[in-house]
Parts: sequence; C-alpha cells; structure tokens
Amino acid sequence: MSDKKCDECPLRRVRSCVMYKKVQMLYPSMIVIGGSSSRDLAKELAMLLECKCILASSTRFPDGECYTRIEGESLNDDVVIVQNTYPDPSIIEMLLIQDAAKRMGAKSITLVIPYFGYARQDRIFKPGEPLSAKVMAKHLGLVCDKVITIDIHKESVLSNFKCPAKDLKASGAIAEYFTDKGIDIVLAPDAGAAERAKDVGTRMGLPYDHLEKIRLSGTEVKIAPAKTDCMNKNILIVDDIIATGGTILAATVQLKQAGAKSVSVACTHGVFTGDAIQRLTGGNIDALLCCNTLESKVSNISVASTVAEELRKGKKRGLLRKK
Ligand code: R5P
Repeated sequence: MSDKKCDECPLRRVRSCVMYKKVQMLYPSMIVIGGSSSRDLAKELAMLLECKCILASSTRFPDGECYTRIEGESLNDDVVIVQNTYPDPSIIEMLLIQDAAKRMGAKSITLVIPYFGYARQDRIFKPGEPLSAKVMAKHLGLVCDKVITIDIHKESVLSNFKCPAKDLKASGAIAEYFTDKGIDIVLAPDAGAAERAKDVGTRMGLPYDHLEKIRLSGTEVKIAPAKTDCMNKNILIVDDIIATGGTILAATVQLKQAGAKSVSVACTHGVFTGDAIQRLTGGNIDALLCCNTLESKVSNISVASTVAEELRKGKKRGLLRKK
C-alpha cells in the first residue's frame, strides 16, 4: 500500500491503495444535487456520504417559468437528485433538473423525493377525477433509475414507477430525537397513524396507542375522548403530515382534558398551511417538531442518515444503475 497523499481519498492516500478502496466501499462516490426545496437535506446527505454536492441554481423568468442549472462540465457518476414534488413549482424544477443531469452524462439517476406531493390522490374518489399520484410517477419515472421517498402517504403509489422505488420511514429519526426527553407514551391521532405510533413507541421502549378521529371537513376534525390513561403523562403524538393542524389541535385538547402533563408533537412532513405553526405553538402544545423533508423553522429532525444508509447500500450492491 502506498503512503503517497492524495486529495481525493478521505484518508489522503492514493487511489490505488487498499485503504482507499475500503473507504470507497464505506463512502461510495456519488454526486448529490440539491433542488431548491431540499438544499439543506442535500448538503447533509452529501456530508454523510462524503461526496460532492451541487446545489442546482433555480430562478424564475419574468413570466414565472422556471430556470434551473447544474453548475459544472459533466456528471460522470451516479447522481442523486434531492427535490420535493410539492408545491407545484417544485415539480417542474425536478423535471428540468432530471433532464439537465441526464444531458450532463449522469451514469444513473436516483430521485430522493422527501415529500411526494399528490400521493393522497392515489385513487379515483369521484367520477371524473384524475389519478394524480400515477400521473406524477409516470412523468418523474421517465428519467430515473431508482426512487426513494420518505413516509409517502400510500406506499402503493410506488408501484406506478417502472424502476425500483422504496419508501423509507422517519420513525427511527423521530424515536432517536425524543429518546431521553422524558416521554411516557406515544399516541397516534387516528387509527391510520396507529402503526407509526407502534413503530416509534417500540423503538423507544414505550407504550403506544391511538385516538379515534372523525373528519368533518377538509379543515375540521373531531377527536373522541382518549381511552388511554393520560393522567400526569408526558405524551408524544406522532403523525405523517400536519397540514392545517386541525387534527393535532383537536387531539391535544382531548389529551389535556384527560390530564396529560405535557403534549409533544412530531410529524414527518410539516406542510403547515396558513398560520398553522403559530396556532400549534401558541397554546397547549409543549413541543412541535417535524422532519426536514419540508424545510421550516421546526424541521429539526433529520432523515439524512436514513437516506444515506439506503444510498450506500444501493451503491454497494450496484442497485443504483439499471442492469
Ligand atoms: C391524515 O390522514 C393524516 O395522517 C393527517 O392526520 C392529516 O393530513 C393532518 O391534516 P390536518 O393537519 O389538516 O388536520
């Protein structure tokens, strides 16, 4: 093994050395490209993978059309694009970045879509509606070799991709964040999130349960009184999405009425429509956190290591490129 120094190797050895090859296995070479919706996550991901990060520039023409550019001559490597498909302008930006990456010679393209917009319209609820989730998969799938999402609303949406697609869970990151924060019980605000509460609770070694929710309209929900013993308990509510905050506010009222000592709230995707953050932080809720799938002032739980692990595994097994 040579001891000659080389700037490309994390251990400062030459490319041909055994140690360099071992390091390459641990930190496989890739290029991470951050779209405007996910720059911080892209940077963190690249740092964990010890690989290059390029933040695609993104501006709007006077008429509102998107202009994006990946700085550099070529992308002669496996490329990971990190970009949400929410809100709508982010979808166009993603399609344009995919095209630019392909034209710059990317050997493979993996889309990391932290928040997959339109996943909720995964079926036709009323005649005449589109199958929005399928439309998204069809178009995004035109230029990519692998797709990674995080807590997508319905995993079945991923079957619309022709390439391998995997949904990762934020439960590990949420459980890790709340470990040692004195939580006594993990609750889901409705039956739909019961598995999530189970996953987080199990990881934290805590009891878990769920409340019963009745949706009255898009903005109004009713939560039934808690059957779980909440008296003097520090409760963590977990959900996939907080949009208007109606679900969480209604759940918190019930938990406080049942004697909860504190109510902390964590979700994967903090969509936070309108003044949701102010409404949620201005009252009964003791802590409000979400993951960095959508960037906001409370997105302090990072899913970067979960995504990095998946990318590392894929690269090692040669799964990022189409056979
Ligand atoms: C519902 O299925 C989801 O898991 C969330 O509970 C819901 O999207 C939250 O919406 P909101 O914050 O508007 O009540």
